Amino acid sequence: MRRKLAAGNWKMNGLAADLAEAQALAADHGAPGCDILICPPATLLSRMADTLGHAPIALGGQDCHAGAAGAHTGDVSAAMLADAGASHVILGHSERRADHAETDAAVRAKAAAAQAAGLVAVICLGETEADRDAGRTLEVIDRQLAGSLPGGATGANTVIAYEPVWAIGSGRTPTPDQIAEVHAFLRARLTDLMAAEGAAVRLLYGGSVKPGNAAEIFALPEVDGALVGGASLKAADFGAIITALEQA
Ligand code: 13P
Repeated sequence: MRRKLAAGNWKMNGLAADLAEAQALAADHGAPGCDILICPPATLLSRMADTLGHAPIALGGQDCHAGAAGAHTGDVSAAMLADAGASHVILGHSERRADHAETDAAVRAKAAAAQAAGLVAVICLGETEADRDAGRTLEVIDRQLAGSLPGGATGANTVIAYEPVWAIGSGRTPTPDQIAEVHAFLRARLTDLMAAEGAAVRLLYGGSVKPGNAAEIFALPEVDGALVGGASLKAADFGAIITALEQA
């Protein structure tokens, strides 16, 4: 049985004052019926860990370096994220693939580093609008999955997030059929690549998930939760999405 997961990606948003949102979320979801994850900017990780104390909310980074330590100015290692209170790390987000030219091989190396540091890797993949228009969605997803998944991946140390690039921050979402098609494809490919462990990997949908569309998305087969951007910044909105997931 896969436990549902509601994950919030704060991206490059959040100052000390915003810790109050995490605190409000913890106050409203003291015994959640699903796993909750917040990935704040790295600068807030340890303070958010202090703020949340023993609340049942996991924390994650948004990227890590593939190396364990060394001369990499501006980078953060997986062990540093763990040291700051993270148990997860988002890897291969399309914004990093686009802004920092991250390849599948780079994402795979980072995921291996995350594994070595005991972090759960939340590996993101998704097609661009041009890919979809050209009928290449499943081909792109297949290549990204096979290229980004590290050896040693299990259901316990790996989560996959399907995030169509054109749905991120746009207010547009795929149709339920389109989401279900990609998630079914991912589940089948995970089983090919990981045998029985493939059935244990949680599959999240991400891209313009809001309180208003969450229930419809969570009702789809093979959708184990969501990776939420903008709507995760406010406790009221993220809380409503969590509630929808608990009731799915
Ligand atoms: P939005 O929910 O803002 O569309 O962002 C999705 C996302 O990129 C989460 O990683």
